[in-house]
Amino acid sequence: MKIIRARDYDHMSRQAANIISAQVIIKPDSVLGLATGSSPIGTYKQLIAWYEKGDIDFSGVRTVNLDEYVGLDANHVQSYAHFMRSNLFDHINLRLENTNIPSGVEPDAETECARYDRVIRGLGGIDLQLLGLGPNGHIGFNEPDDHFSKTTHKVALTDATVKANTRFFDRESDVPRYAYTMGIQDIMQAERVVMVVSGAGKAGIVREAFFGPVTPRIPASILQIHKDFTLVADEEALSQID
Ligand code: GLP
Repeated sequence: MKIIRARDYDHMSRQAANIISAQVIIKPDSVLGLATGSSPIGTYKQLIAWYEKGDIDFSGVRTVNLDEYVGLDANHVQSYAHFMRSNLFDHINLRLENTNIPSGVEPDAETECARYDRVIRGLGGIDLQLLGLGPNGHIGFNEPDDHFSKTTHKVALTDATVKANTRFFDRESDVPRYAYTMGIQDIMQAERVVMVVSGAGKAGIVREAFFGPVTPRIPASILQIHKDFTLVADEEALSQID
């Protein structure tokens, strides 16, 4: 595990964007695993800025997103499909047909999860997976559990996650209670994993996840044993680490 200590959110975002940019320059047909949440927004902004300068070409890149809320269609303003279009896809020369996100409107979990696993396998795996860190240590929507999940599955969101994500909705009752998410095995099989974390509010979970035991109760902790994991965190997020 490598740790890149950034000064603040903007610095963290540039550092993570540098790693992603290098990946795309070295392998123009990279498969990028992408994340939502507030943490990667700055990274996406930086990638857009470099694309506009002519420094990165996304035309050969394929993407696969971690997760989607069950029940929200791709045009719902809080869907992760909408998030990805407005924060990244609409601003770069990535081809939309090369992007993949679980479908929140497929009611049959088995069908959708099997389809998404075929998509990931069909891409030949993930070259670089970008992650944020949930306040309870979740990655994607892999919530604390008594085992690590393997492939794409339907999850019941914990109360903590529903509360944390209420800020994006008008009211708590609007937050979907279920999501489809890539599994821990899918994430662990990525060639390289980069996580962005910022702010004092994440300092405790950063310490527990990366300086405590590996446990499914803190899903992100398994990244300690990934062969190429880089944590890009700002000083506040690292404030509980010696
Ligand atoms: C959501 C997403 C996660 C993300 C997490 C943290 O629950 N499913 O992929 O990492 O939020 O979000 P934030 O970066 O806003 O703290």
